[in-house]
Amino acid sequence: MAQLAVIGAGYVGLTSAACLAHLGHHVVCADAAEERVAGLLRGESPIVEQGLGELVKEGLRNGRLTFTTSNADAVAKAEFVLLCVPTPQADDGRADMSFIRVVAAEIGPHLLSESIVITKSTVPVGSTRVVEQTLGRVDVSVVSNPEFLREGSAVHDFLHPDRIVIGADDESTAVKVAAMFSRTSAPLVVTDPASAETIKYASNAFLATKLSFVNGMAALCEAVGADIRQVVLGMGFDRRIGSDFLRPGPGWGGSCLPKDVTALVHTAEEVGYDFALLRGAIRANEEQYQRMADKAVRMAGGSVDGRVVAIWGLTFKARTDDLRHSPSLEIATRLTTMGARVRGYDPTVRGPLPGIEICADPYAACEGASVVVLGTEWDELRWLDFAKVAELMVVRAIVDCRNLLEPAAVRRHGFAYEGVGLV
Ligand code: UGA
Repeated sequence: MAQLAVIGAGYVGLTSAACLAHLGHHVVCADAAEERVAGLLRGESPIVEQGLGELVKEGLRNGRLTFTTSNADAVAKAEFVLLCVPTPQADDGRADMSFIRVVAAEIGPHLLSESIVITKSTVPVGSTRVVEQTLGRVDVSVVSNPEFLREGSAVHDFLHPDRIVIGADDESTAVKVAAMFSRTSAPLVVTDPASAETIKYASNAFLATKLSFVNGMAALCEAVGADIRQVVLGMGFDRRIGSDFLRPGPGWGGSCLPKDVTALVHTAEEVGYDFALLRGAIRANEEQYQRMADKAVRMAGGSVDGRVVAIWGLTFKARTDDLRHSPSLEIATRLTTMGARVRGYDPTVRGPLPGIEICADPYAACEGASVVVLGTEWDELRWLDFAKVAELMVVRAIVDCRNLLEPAAVRRHGFAYEGVGLV
């Protein structure tokens, strides 16, 4: 078992730290945010993620996991250092590498000789070289090991990955990194750093394109009287297509897909390739947000100006409290621009949000509303008392952007109901 440092306690960093400690390693996880570290040292997980809080507590209890605000202290004894800092989208669409650069410059002088620095953050092609240069250490190896976990199932995905990708310049370094994951039984893809970095972007871009395709098919289904649920069922049995990631929705969001697809388009532009397919996937996604907003307007009777619109579910998907690039918020903004008063409910959101009045429960959100938009597939929304909802609303209309509800059951209560891609 190895001595590890994880820099960054966000979704990827904290999950990696807690899971690697669970797998038997000794892990020091560093984050600059003092409050976050203090909470973690008390065993409090700062994010909603199934199983993560338990693993943090387990690691603290058995002494294999600890937290610090000092990157230098974290790396002092580490054989492996995992960089898990954010690479947000810069104004021009590029991935912003400044956190990576700052951390690499800071830890360079403190690294053990022969240690291995592993980049887990999603970084543009060529970043492994940038990290090498910034560290300024010829006795330290740098490896790319992109992470593919999803929010909402991060712990499960980390412990049971579909594959582990290691981009290293030499085989012996790759073997050492692979040994870190020996207790998971995933196929290993050992390659060069540039290919590993590209695999991450290619995967997210492919998934986003798949969703834009499916959302386009859903629009077509509505026009020709077909049912997208049957269509994707029929498609998914073809093993070349696969049945995952074929659920139509309000458009794709989150902290990764939008940022990574935009960054890849940018990378392509820089090398003279116009990645029109990806530009199309992004445009189709914007149109999908708008299509959902337009549905809400139509269902409300042709205008939302001065009317209340309820939005059920605000996070970018269920089982997370993450609001970054949430389709629900995109739709809310469009409706607010058209004059709507938006009232929102989400099981994980309590604080105020600009332009949305946050309500304590789904019923309160739809009081006096002319339409409800179901934006996030929270399971609890399936089991509401729709007779009560019907009484609270001015116009009984539901736009179900996740096809979560049973249309016939909702219609029985006098609702006009529209899903995505349904007859
Ligand atoms: C995504 C990738 O799926 C992960 O493999 C990757 O590691 C991660 O980004 C990252 O780069 O860190 P995540 O952002 O957690 O994971 O979200 P997804 O589960 O991919 O969902 C993205 C969006 O697509 C959400 O808005 C979701 O609701 C939507 N979606 C997903 C659908 O509309 N339909 C589907 O069938 C699946």
